Amino acid sequence: MFVINCKNYEEIAGDNIIKFVKIAEKISKKYKIKIAVSPPQHLVGVVANSSISILAQHIDVSKTGSTTGFVIPELLKKSKVKGSLINHSEHRITSKEIEKLVLKLKELKMISILCVKDISEVKKYVKLNPDYIAIEPPELIGSGKAVSKEKPELIAKAASIVNNSKNKTKLLCGAGIVSGEDVAKAIELGSKGILVASGIIKAKDWNKVISEFAKALV
Ligand code: G3P
Repeated sequence: MFVINCKNYEEIAGDNIIKFVKIAEKISKKYKIKIAVSPPQHLVGVVANSSISILAQHIDVSKTGSTTGFVIPELLKKSKVKGSLINHSEHRITSKEIEKLVLKLKELKMISILCVKDISEVKKYVKLNPDYIAIEPPELIGSGKAVSKEKPELIAKAASIVNNSKNKTKLLCGAGIVSGEDVAKAIELGSKGILVASGIIKAKDWNKVISEFAKALV
């Protein structure tokens, strides 16, 4: 048996991974072959071909080529991923990495959504001029208690900092948002949109809840 590690070589990026697997598949009828892929960038093609913008949850500071297991923005781009969250509360990274990744996404013309946990981080990171800053108090994430109702002053303050900065960064907020009313409240407080997970993903009727949230954003 042999294992082929695709690593993060550009030669295998985008649709090339599909061609490669098909070739190996034929040969594997005779010989035992296994292929080690990087799921974020090699398997995303299926959804990223959608007309909706697909983003990554995380990216790493690493390079294409002989690297293993990192999420590489350049390769995501080849798989039609449009951008990424950076520094999500559940996957925090250093400020040096944050800076490099915001710059990298800019260079690649990909969307950057920089997640922060409080006002001091809003002030610090708005200077990097990401496309979006998403403020999420970690203790409210997944709680069902909406940030827009529990901490309205936090959103209002973050909105005044972001909206009054000289750059084009827009504010998003998230954590515990579960209804159209929570969304509307966030917008009323100055947020330009929301970042949400459980309120939608765990709902019984996805069509109903996505439509409800979308209407509240208008
Ligand atoms: O990435 C969004 C997330 O942190 C908010 O989670 O489940 O509170 O909507 P949730």
